[in-house]
Amino acid sequence: MTAAQAPKRTLVTGGAGFIGSHLVERLLDDGHHVTVVDDLSTGRLENLAAVRAHPRLSVRRADVARVEEIRPLFAGAEWVFHLAALADVVPSIAEPLKYHRANVDGTAAVLEAARAAGAKRLVYAASSSCYGLAETLPTPESAPMRPMYPYALTKWIGEQYVLHWARTYKLSAVSLRLFNVYGPRARTAGTYGAVFGVFLAQKLAGKPFTVVGDGEQTRDFTYVADAADAFAAAAACDASGEAFNVGSGSTYSVNELVRLLGGPAVRVPKRPGEPDATFADISRIKARVGWSPKVGFAEGVARVLENIEQWRGAPVWDAGAIREATKEWFQYLS
Ligand SMILES: NC(=O)c1ccc[n+]([C@@H]2O[C@H](COP(=O)([O-])OP(=O)(O)OC[C@H]3O[C@@H](n4cnc5c(N)ncnc54)[C@H](O)[C@@H]3O)[C@@H](O)[C@H]2O)c1
Repeated sequence: MTAAQAPKRTLVTGGAGFIGSHLVERLLDDGHHVTVVDDLSTGRLENLAAVRAHPRLSVRRADVARVEEIRPLFAGAEWVFHLAALADVVPSIAEPLKYHRANVDGTAAVLEAARAAGAKRLVYAASSSCYGLAETLPTPESAPMRPMYPYALTKWIGEQYVLHWARTYKLSAVSLRLFNVYGPRARTAGTYGAVFGVFLAQKLAGKPFTVVGDGEQTRDFTYVADAADAFAAAAACDASGEAFNVGSGSTYSVNELVRLLGGPAVRVPKRPGEPDATFADISRIKARVGWSPKVGFAEGVARVLENIEQWRGAPVWDAGAIREATKEWFQYLS
């Protein structure tokens, strides 16, 4: 076993969320100790049901933006994974300050708590939304930053903080720009959001899929186990002060997703500020971190369908409800 593989004291902010809970399972499997820090605002303890009684797991309910509150929880943490954030597009347009507090103040507080604890590594969950309507496909990390709405802006500012702390305070840290992560436990409740949750609830309810525009827009859908793997690999590598794309190595249209899920579809209007394609250039993370995705789209969708019961009880959107929920989107981003 190399020093990088030896069991570590790890801390996962947002560990009760969708991606965070998969990362927690992965870290426990790898033999690490894990402390979850989560305010349960959008995350759920049920996401951690499979590992809740694990002797190497502790779960602490706290708001990451309260630095005095979280500082003691970070004591002894060697690897910090910062995934806690408010992660929806639509509410970020209505409530930018709330997003700034959780995603920017929260990130600064996590960096200070990690620094005070003498953490050896920090890995930040950034978002591909920083590229906005990217002109280059696949999109490299050097592409211009064009956040189109407050969620994207706050996640990008958070990344700037992380890279600044790496430069200024020599906190060893990297940022992972995640592209459209999907898989079991993807958020089912709350606001209108990512296509998977919307379609799966519609399929269970026997309602048509609400396809945005002509459905030919493509997304770099990344399976959640691959994303968790990228976090683990990024913590163990020695790169610092860099951002890396995390994608599937491919891009698929919404119509292809409809075909894989199977069922009728209706169209809802195309929205301003949304790209026609997202597609990550993942050559940098392959070369520098040694990570590459393993789960193909058809296999990933099949794994999601095996878990479709998780979306029973999730809100079922129709064209009228979507029109209402995206009013501010059209108002401000047109
Ligand atoms: N899902 C994606 O496709 C995707 C893409 C790009 C980036 N990301 C980023 O990955 C991370 C995880 O996203 P997710 O999809 O799992 O979302 P999620 O909402 O399931 O997880 C976020 C978690 O953070 C917690 N949280 C929110 N505000 C907090 C606060 N102030 N203090 C403590 N905990 C707080 C929530 O309770 C939740 O458990 C986020 O940082 C998100 O911006 C996700």
